[in-house]
Amino acid sequence: MLSPYCATACAHANIALIKYWGKADESLVIPTTSSLSLTLDGLTTQTTVEFHADDESCEQAGASATGSPLLHDTLNIDGQEQIGTPLQRVSKFLDVIRERAGIALPARVVSHNTVPFGAGLASSASAFAALAAAASRAAGLELSDRELSRIARRGSGSACRSIYGGLVKWNAGHDDESSYAEPVESPLDLAIIVVLISAKEKPMSSREAMRLTVRTSPLYPAWVCASEVDMRDALAAVSHSDLRALGAVAEANALGMHAAMMSARPGVVYWLPQTVAALAAVRDMRTQGFDVWFTMDAGANVKVLALASEAEHVADELRNRMPDCAVEVHHPGSGVRIVH
Ligand code: PMV
Repeated sequence: MLSPYCATACAHANIALIKYWGKADESLVIPTTSSLSLTLDGLTTQTTVEFHADDESCEQAGASATGSPLLHDTLNIDGQEQIGTPLQRVSKFLDVIRERAGIALPARVVSHNTVPFGAGLASSASAFAALAAAASRAAGLELSDRELSRIARRGSGSACRSIYGGLVKWNAGHDDESSYAEPVESPLDLAIIVVLISAKEKPMSSREAMRLTVRTSPLYPAWVCASEVDMRDALAAVSHSDLRALGAVAEANALGMHAAMMSARPGVVYWLPQTVAALAAVRDMRTQGFDVWFTMDAGANVKVLALASEAEHVADELRNRMPDCAVEVHHPGSGVRIVH
């Protein structure tokens, strides 16, 4: 029998079309701009959280092998026990939930991922969305999706968008209550094709790179202003089912984000030679009549926006042009859900 303090949740990564890059409030994770993303299928995190009230063990987590009570939080990611920064980050996040639930119990967290960790494939979005849902349920909290998205935001900004499936808008807001994600109705049937340039952990976390960009990049204020207009244009494109307008603004917004981070001091450059080759391939494909646009996150990998009905054809063409890279099609995925 499962402990009443145990729950498992599953969440998918999301890829932003209009990016979140920079915080107005570091501790509450309030962004400087609103963002728009697509939650994807595949790219999944499943996480079990067990708060230890006594010596009951959680069958699913396989936790506390000795059956003895835990004195502090523990974290296992894909079979590896974590210490140091990853554990501290999860503990700090669990404190938000413990405070809200009025409990002071240590937790065992066990997580399984199909997303390579820290490679710019939005692993923190699926990770903190799944953790937020599992931990709040295990702590006995009954939260609305909006409340859950506000809590997930505290773990990793982009995680607030993975609470919902499909297209999602994160309203920047100005405080904890007004900064939340919500679904956006869309008649467009979109897909994202991931061109995997590198699955290695990136040289600098998005958290650090963002901070450096906000603090030192002379281009950052211009990107913030441009992003407000981009967001309006993107939402208008979605409501008019205008894929070309959406693709164009998404590509421009991603390039602007990278321009801002490259002009930080010191500049943050995630691109590899194959990244540039993939961007050129996408632009060349456009001249050949493909409706494709690229976006990139904090990493070397390239994501290509296309219509779902054309995604396989686009993927085949990208495989021909980028024979050394794995190319995967992702369709829209569902929001976070409690597994048990
Ligand atoms: O949520 P974080 O801290 O992993 O930052 C995500 C930043 C980007 O992926 C580059 C952009 C975004 O909006 O997802």
